[in-house]
Amino acid sequence: MATFPELVFSGVQPTGNLHLGNYLGAITKFVDLQETHDCIYCVVDLHAITVAQNPAELTSNIREVTAAFIAAGIDPKKHIIFNQSQVAEHAELAWVFNCIARIGWLNRMTQFKEKAGKDRENASVGLYAYPTLMAADILVYRATHVPVGEDQKQHLELARDIAQKFNNDFAETIRNVVGADAYFPQPEPLIQGPATRVMSLRDGTKKMSKSDPSDYSRINLTDDADTIAQKVRKAKTDPEPLPSELPGLAKRPEADNLVGIFAALNKQSKEDVLTQFGSANFSTFKSALVDLAVSKLGPIGAEMKRLQADKSYIDGVLSDGSARAKVLAAGTMQDVKDMLGFIR
Ligand code: TYM
Repeated sequence: MATFPELVFSGVQPTGNLHLGNYLGAITKFVDLQETHDCIYCVVDLHAITVAQNPAELTSNIREVTAAFIAAGIDPKKHIIFNQSQVAEHAELAWVFNCIARIGWLNRMTQFKEKAGKDRENASVGLYAYPTLMAADILVYRATHVPVGEDQKQHLELARDIAQKFNNDFAETIRNVVGADAYFPQPEPLIQGPATRVMSLRDGTKKMSKSDPSDYSRINLTDDADTIAQKVRKAKTDPEPLPSELPGLAKRPEADNLVGIFAALNKQSKEDVLTQFGSANFSTFKSALVDLAVSKLGPIGAEMKRLQADKSYIDGVLSDGSARAKVLAAGTMQDVKDMLGFIR
């Protein structure tokens, strides 16, 4: 089998309300991976328009996600930060993948079913084809590792299936063009640690999400210290004190979620948190969680606001990153065109 140089790719949608789930499930991982890998981080604006967006808000949300990446500690000089729509090869490869992926594969995607809801006939074609664009995002760089939250696992499996089918369908021309037995790698999802699925603060059985109508369900990255404190204090809990060991969290989704959040923010395991707080009541634990959350998130929120005010800096980061990404993506598209038999 062909081997591929390790490369990290991931994306975040600019759809407003960046929250603790995005931060712990994805962005902190992006930051850590910079030490060991070349990384490409994308603001996926083409994905955002699969549901209706207000153009002025979209512009500001693209800058917000960019600011969050930088404020969290991603270095846009050493790595690449860019927005998807500036590199047309994403959409171009997505079209090719629309012709590789099978309708049956897309019909299995649970996120489409959730997002389209009951009115499926009225969902955009883009929302349905969303995972083929996501596969193109990753594979146009032939990226090997993709840090994401748990909710993206099925989309990553689809990306692997598309890569495999392309490699099989075009085995002969792949051999002619690049002299290898596979052109695309099987991208590996990186879904690890205590906060791969951060839950709503109002209901421990529902995912923390940008679209929850209650702002008390989530901690936004731009929330100030008082708001963070209020949201944590109001978070739903149960009447029992915290257990001392992990099995004690079973069937206690809210307690499990808060312990997971604490662990991830403090870069500990849930076991370590329970060793420290076992048999503590929630008011003690929540006070410690407020202090921790404010100390970790406060500086990021403040830096995000500062950066967002400097639009020309943010836009410059995106255009520089896009130019660098485009060189890589264009090379892949040339190969793909040769493999498909197009004239260029
Ligand atoms: P998006 O924008 O919904 O979320 C961005 C990242 O945050 C993670 N996440 C969570 N992690 C833990 N707990 C939660 N409650 C939570 N909510 C969100 C997501 O798993 C994701 O990692 N389709 C992707 C964006 C995308 C992408 C890509 C990702 C487009 N192309 C290519 C990786 C590679 C999405 O909608 O993420």
